[in-house]
Amino acid sequence: MSRKKVTVVGAGNVGASLAWTLARMNLSDVVLLDIPETKGMPAGKALDMKQSGAIFGFDGDIVGGSDWNLAQGSDVVVITAGVPRKPGMSRDDLLLINAKIVSSVAVQVKAKAPQSIVIVISNPLDAMCAVVQRVTGFPRERVLGMAGVLDSARMRTFLAQELNVSINNVHACVLGGHGDSMVPLPRYSTVSGVSIVELLPKDRLEKIIQRTRDGGAEIVKLLETGSAFYAPSASAAEMVEAILLDNKKILPCAALLQGEYGVKGLFVGVPVKLGARGLEEVVILKLTSDEEKAFKTSVDSVQSLLKVLDGKLTK
Ligand code: LAC
Repeated sequence: MSRKKVTVVGAGNVGASLAWTLARMNLSDVVLLDIPETKGMPAGKALDMKQSGAIFGFDGDIVGGSDWNLAQGSDVVVITAGVPRKPGMSRDDLLLINAKIVSSVAVQVKAKAPQSIVIVISNPLDAMCAVVQRVTGFPRERVLGMAGVLDSARMRTFLAQELNVSINNVHACVLGGHGDSMVPLPRYSTVSGVSIVELLPKDRLEKIIQRTRDGGAEIVKLLETGSAFYAPSASAAEMVEAILLDNKKILPCAALLQGEYGVKGLFVGVPVKLGARGLEEVVILKLTSDEEKAFKTSVDSVQSLLKVLDGKLTK
């Protein structure tokens, strides 16, 4: 049996970090693609990573380039292509420019990897997932967005620091769109099974929730020339692993809802079971009326971005 193949589109910070992480996880062969204008850059990065296999001991092949034929027959395609935000920008400010880039990538994915499961990372995430799904026509099982794993990882980190416990004991749950109105859910966030609502006073909890919402912007501000990439690429790698190993992990991902959570036809972050078929189940959490309200606000902001996009695309 031949090895699985994962193609990463975009050889920038997120894409390259992801390709290297996947190679080290020894799960598959990896292809790193970028546009022809980047010339030898993706091939150079891939060759460099390949040589690190001598130290890390991975056998999977890793190649880079701009020829979409390299992606032929991929099992998973991860789309990181697009421009990142600059300090002071929201993810939504990237809408029109990244929609163009992502839709041209989706055309290639449909042609070269028609059976693949696609994971989208480009921002604004929920809208970019919609672009990919519409252009490829893939069923919702095979188009997912990476956001909730990252947002939850940030919340877990802040909680572990605050409570001085191992990150391995901390579980966090963040729903909604990957934007300023995302919905961290303290009731479903736990330390060794105990809800953090019982472990932290309200004001400290509020601070962590707000820092989680601003998690991406905090890093954009520090970097000045780009956005986060280590935690985003690690988060996408966890999703790829769940698919390739068919491990049925329940992870918060952007998924096309078909009536779940009262939402139809929109990509929004919810817990889903990931396996070999991609999205295998949308997990339904019971929400309080306040949580529902916050979720709806987040959904509305995703919806309004799509309206902007539709307006521009039909012109
Ligand atoms: C972030 C980007 C990846 O949250 O959206 O850092």
